[in-house]
Amino acid sequence: MTFQLDSVVPWGRSFDEYVSMFSLTDTDLQSRILGCGDGPASFNGILAGRNGNIVSCDPLYRFSAEEIRSRISDTAATIGRELAENTDEFVWTHFDSVEAVIETRMSAMEQFLLDFSSGKRAGRYIDASLPQLPFLDDAFDLALCSHFLFLYSEQHDLGFHVRSIRELSRVAAEVRIFPLVELDATPSRHLQPVISDLESFGLQCEIVRVPYEFQIGSARMLVVSRVGSVPNA
Ligand SMILES: C[S@@+](CC[C@H](N)C(=O)[O-])C[C@H]1O[C@@H](n2cnc3c(N)ncnc32)[C@H](O)[C@@H]1O
Repeated sequence: MTFQLDSVVPWGRSFDEYVSMFSLTDTDLQSRILGCGDGPASFNGILAGRNGNIVSCDPLYRFSAEEIRSRISDTAATIGRELAENTDEFVWTHFDSVEAVIETRMSAMEQFLLDFSSGKRAGRYIDASLPQLPFLDDAFDLALCSHFLFLYSEQHDLGFHVRSIRELSRVAAEVRIFPLVELDATPSRHLQPVISDLESFGLQCEIVRVPYEFQIGSARMLVVSRVGSVPNA
């Protein structure tokens, strides 16, 4: 049986996982960063605490911390069960057990929940959804998208992926997306057509190895960059 979730769920990774998934350098971490689809990850809160320049956007942010907290506890039970039933679909070097995954993620999400209300007031958590974002051209140097685009290729079609990545490239000079596999760890059906479209639109695409692999065969990110001004849609 493959690892399946009924729909996109609130589940958040740790700061260290973000650094590995996107091969983030100290210079990257000092740039203006957009985390798109960050959900309840701790990346924003931790980076802001280190004087980073970070904004996250996600439709989840229309809810209160307490509403998000209760959805997280429903999700944790489902994910723990799915992981335990499908251990052979994952690489157990970063984590050595299902319990370690759940503990790391629950601790990251608790850090998010503690930061969320003040971060929202400070404008670091914005309720917004791809494929249209409420940011000016070039508002960011780097946009990161973890575990949303490509992972949910069955739920979101090629057109959605193309519009979303063009939009991310409008607001940020460089876009990094991880992983490039679907929920069952097969390569995303949209990856090659998306790259062809983006290249014909004048964007540069590169698939880059990263030092993070949890789903088997997933240790690659897509880097989309533009040279010069924002291409016209
Ligand atoms: C599996 S979670 C990943 C969370 C985080 N990026 C991480 O890796 O820990 C996917 C996130 O995508 C968000 N999402 C769903 N639809 C979206 C959209 N149209 N635009 C942006 N984010 C969306 C969900 O609310 C959810 O928080």
